[in-house]
Amino acid sequence: MGIEQYYKSEHAMLYKGDNLELLKLLPEQHIDLIYCDILYGTGKKFKDYQDLKPKKEIIEEFYEPRLNEMYRVLKDTGSIYLQMDYRISHWVRCIMDNIFTYENFRNKIVWKYGLGNARTETNYLDKHDEILYYSKTKNFTWNLQRGEVTPQMKAKYCHWDEDEQNYYMMNNNKKYYLKGGKKLENVWDDIPNMSSTSKERVGYDTQKPKLLLERIIKSSSNDGDIVADFFMGSGTTGAVAVELGRKFIGCDISEKACLIAKDRINKNVI
Ligand SMILES: C[S@@+](CC[C@H](N)C(=O)[O-])C[C@H]1O[C@@H](n2cnc3c(N)ncnc32)[C@H](O)[C@@H]1O
Repeated sequence: MGIEQYYKSEHAMLYKGDNLELLKLLPEQHIDLIYCDILYGTGKKFKDYQDLKPKKEIIEEFYEPRLNEMYRVLKDTGSIYLQMDYRISHWVRCIMDNIFTYENFRNKIVWKYGLGNARTETNYLDKHDEILYYSKTKNFTWNLQRGEVTPQMKAKYCHWDEDEQNYYMMNNNKKYYLKGGKKLENVWDDIPNMSSTSKERVGYDTQKPKLLLERIIKSSSNDGDIVADFFMGSGTTGAVAVELGRKFIGCDISEKACLIAKDRINKNVI
């Protein structure tokens, strides 16, 4: 089907076409962070695109060549986050272990999205996505993220140090300073999926909330780094990456996705 450059600016390059074709054209060691909200295993036909059938051979045939290429284009200090559902994550994980190695499997994040999927009567309701997180090597970019400072923490760290301009608590005659909220855990239940009336909605199926991307981009990239999303959809990754001072490479096979993503990155729609 070919690949075409759809949009180019100082901060972003968007491509329309099959991501495998784009990936083959990109140089190796080029990208700092890859996030992809890939095709899930629901087999479902959405308005804007179709998910894959949950069959091992289908998943392997589709993802293996793409993930091999993603490994090649990632810098040695880079990381990759792949978001999917429980129907295919075990197969994708085996492919990733083969390519990135088990030693570079950093974590599996569970995003408990809260809203949506409430129609099932014959099974437990689907309420989470899985995000597989791998680095390319042991020497990867990592910025520890912390949550909000809770009222309980404020009560504990109740002394003010004028010199350090920070709160502290005393234990055994030693000062312990407040470093911020709790370190982020691998279950994220504080980022709700967007409601149908959310202001963030841009009219694209399975659009993800910006907060989710903000957390990933801040944790695993720095100012000026190149962030890529090869299953870009409405361009949530690109919009957040550019807002955070990163550069963005995005690709989607759908014209509608490219158009919406371009507008968002251009700040017409946030
Ligand atoms: C789950 S959606 C991404 C949604 C996105 N995270 C957002 O916030 O809007 C997956 C996207 O992958 C795209 N896609 C599917 N196969 C593709 C391929 N071979 N190359 C490029 N894009 C593809 C679909 O068109 C769809 O927009």
